Amino acid sequence: MSRKNINIGLFGFGCVGFGLYEVLLKTPGLKANINKICVKDKNKSRPIDAGYFTYDKDELLNDESINTIVELIDDADAAFEIVKTALMKGKAVVTANKKMIAEHFTELLELQKKYKVPLLYEAAVCASIPVIRNLEEYYDNDLLESLEGIVNGSTNYILTKTSEDNISYADALLDAQKKGYAESNPILDTGGFDAKYKLLILLAHAFGIVLNPEEIFNIGIDKISDLELKYAREKGYKIKLVAHAFKTGLNTVSAFVAPRFVQAKDKLFQVDDVYNGVVLETVFTENQFFLGKGAGAYPTASAVLSDISALSYNYQYEYKKLVSNKSVKFNNDFTLKIFLKYEVDKVENLRLYFSSIDESYQNNTVGYLIGEIEFIHLQKLSRIEGVSIIIDSVIPSSVIETDLANVLKNEVESLV
Ligand code: HSE
Repeated sequence: MSRKNINIGLFGFGCVGFGLYEVLLKTPGLKANINKICVKDKNKSRPIDAGYFTYDKDELLNDESINTIVELIDDADAAFEIVKTALMKGKAVVTANKKMIAEHFTELLELQKKYKVPLLYEAAVCASIPVIRNLEEYYDNDLLESLEGIVNGSTNYILTKTSEDNISYADALLDAQKKGYAESNPILDTGGFDAKYKLLILLAHAFGIVLNPEEIFNIGIDKISDLELKYAREKGYKIKLVAHAFKTGLNTVSAFVAPRFVQAKDKLFQVDDVYNGVVLETVFTENQFFLGKGAGAYPTASAVLSDISALSYNYQYEYKKLVSNKSVKFNNDFTLKIFLKYEVDKVENLRLYFSSIDESYQNNTVGYLIGEIEFIHLQKLSRIEGVSIIIDSVIPSSVIETDLANVLKNEVESLV
């Protein structure tokens, strides 16, 4: 198949935009060039020829020689307007804006369908890990049982630095910002929102479920204190912010984002610093593990480059599972084992939320409870001041596990 020339109109020239410029210079084999770059700040000095730049978005959107818009700006609302206009004008779009995609997933699907133009966004999830393309192409079947991943580089960097290198939370966050990992509003990272947006995108490609961000429960790492870090250290665990999605029945999937204790035998244990990792479980392969840098200029730019390259072959997402898995529903009907830290003077009667308690501890100021709890109670607990929650494990329903595995195995065996 011959390659199409890609003439790019680039929005944004921050850390990733400049990274893309450099990465493109180093890949001359790809017939892609940046025609024009639209930026906001007129007073900023930039390291490349001033002739590239404009401050008028229409100069890119109305330019017929530009067949591809690459959107790498920070503002999700402005990004949506740019992406929407570009698609309506028949231009292919590449974006890394997970917040924008998560907030407008359904509209973006409709725009792609109506105007018959591709929108690619591999860089939006786990930066350098090609997880979306794998979910689309390789896991193009209903054998996927679960997905769990460290999908935010900044929080993983902060957790690694605070727990292993003894750097303070504030310094580690500052460092993540300086290195270009963190969002400009870092609560999106530390509160688990960025991970939630990424999980929403993954759910569509993994299980064919489209949700609104408010439907996915998230807690972040911002309430973790020394007590939890000390407990983890004593047990030989690490605390990681994990995005979970898993089947809870033949046609039901649950998902949430929360910090979790990860044990040395777990694949995610080795995922440190700015790295992301995704573990996929299928009925027949047990698990597969993807590892790669999850934030930063070059890892993100390399995923954008890969999308540009895919466009030169006319690649587009087919959203195969959205079409085939119409009967799959989202629910949150499951039980977990959690570690709950509380401040003694702020809360009482926490035990009532638990179905069982394995371990408890309390001194004059803080205490913890470890036990099983229904997910719905976890959501209520997370809103109480003075409480912090770490997931120990999701309790698998043995009935569901056996059902799923048996039904799928029987189906396949009957075909052989
Ligand atoms: N703030 C994001 C992160 C950037 O830390 O993962 C990459 O999406």
